[in-house]
Amino acid sequence: MRTPFMAGNWKMYKTPAETTAFFNEFLPMVADAKDREIVINAPYVNIAAAVTSASGSNVGIGAQNLFWEKEGAYTGEISGPMLKASGCQYVVIGHSERRQYFGETDATVLKRAVAALEAGLIPIVCVGELLEEREAGRTNEVLQTQFDGGLAGLDDEQFAKIVIAYEPVWAIGTGKTATPEMAGETHQAIRALVAAKFGADAATAVRILYGGSVKPNNVKDLMAMEDIDGGLVGGASLEPASFAAIVNF
Ligand code: 13P
Repeated sequence: MRTPFMAGNWKMYKTPAETTAFFNEFLPMVADAKDREIVINAPYVNIAAAVTSASGSNVGIGAQNLFWEKEGAYTGEISGPMLKASGCQYVVIGHSERRQYFGETDATVLKRAVAALEAGLIPIVCVGELLEEREAGRTNEVLQTQFDGGLAGLDDEQFAKIVIAYEPVWAIGTGKTATPEMAGETHQAIRALVAAKFGADAATAVRILYGGSVKPNNVKDLMAMEDIDGGLVGGASLEPASFAAIVNF
């Protein structure tokens, strides 16, 4: 059985003080949710506040990106060992916003994922198609390309540690969720890619999260799909009550 995994992605929202205020409200709301993994992926500058607030709780902290070198003259970048030393356990990699605005590619996704694993972080690796790709019937082909150019470069041991997030780009922040059936079908297709490359056991074990307008009112139907193991939640993770409702679906 795969442990459900509910992750918030705060994107570029909140200050450190707002982070602390969030956790003060949020932690008691999810304190009884012991049978699932709960994560907040915070902006870098909020990680210290988040780690302090969540210390000793059932909520883990992650970042939203990392650079693949351990240290060096890379102005503005943050490395895996730095995140680990700051108390992070997770890191989001290859989010579509990173691909769209910051030149992220499948090849750099792979480098970041390897660096995260080397630092002892769990990578939450994002894949997903654009609207025009879905409309052209190219979803599976796009996912195959992203998989082949990214995750397929991991070895079996590395792959066993990662979490995949399927985020159809047209559903992010738009209020348009993929229907549970549509998402479930795509998750199944991703699991088939994993099976072909890493074997049936790896495919059964890997958790695949759905992301894209997950809300308290649609989470249950999404989670009812066999191949959907959790959510990567943007907007609805910013409010303690709405993210707690999602976690406690
Ligand atoms: P929304 O939940 O705001 O659609 O964002 C999804 C997302 O991009 C999570 O990484």
